[in-house]
Amino acid sequence: MIFMPRCTALAAALAAGLAAAEAPPGALSCSGCHGSDATFPRITGRDPAEIVSLLAGFRDGIQPATLMDRIARGLTPAEAQAIADWLGAQK
Ligand code: HEC
Repeated sequence: MIFMPRCTALAAALAAGLAAAEAPPGALSCSGCHGSDATFPRITGRDPAEIVSLLAGFRDGIQPATLMDRIARGLTPAEAQAIADWLGAQK
């Protein structure tokens, strides 16, 4: 479980069903909400530049958020880019 610096329990529960070995740090924690049901917007298979831009908006308080502001502030720009690239490659 070396790719799980955050939300460890959540990510551990989901890791089995995902390509854990290829996921960058933090990426698996996203699926705890996204992809679990229609409550959360789909973030896989999208343009990485759009995801990076949304995350930056959440981080800076420009994009309205209930949760994502706090999550985005926990990511460095490099981590956000790596996660967005990985998400873009997922279905
Ligand atoms: C605890 C649940 C939760 C987790 C974990 C989570 N998100 Fe979110 N995400 C949300 C919610 C809820 C929204 C809607 C905005 C809001 O209310 O904060 C959202 C919105 C988004 C959006 C905007 C999508 C759109 O089309 O508007 C992106 C991008 C996003 N999340 C990326 C991520 C990434 C990347 C991760 C992992 C680092 C992540 N989320 C982890 C709950 C979560």
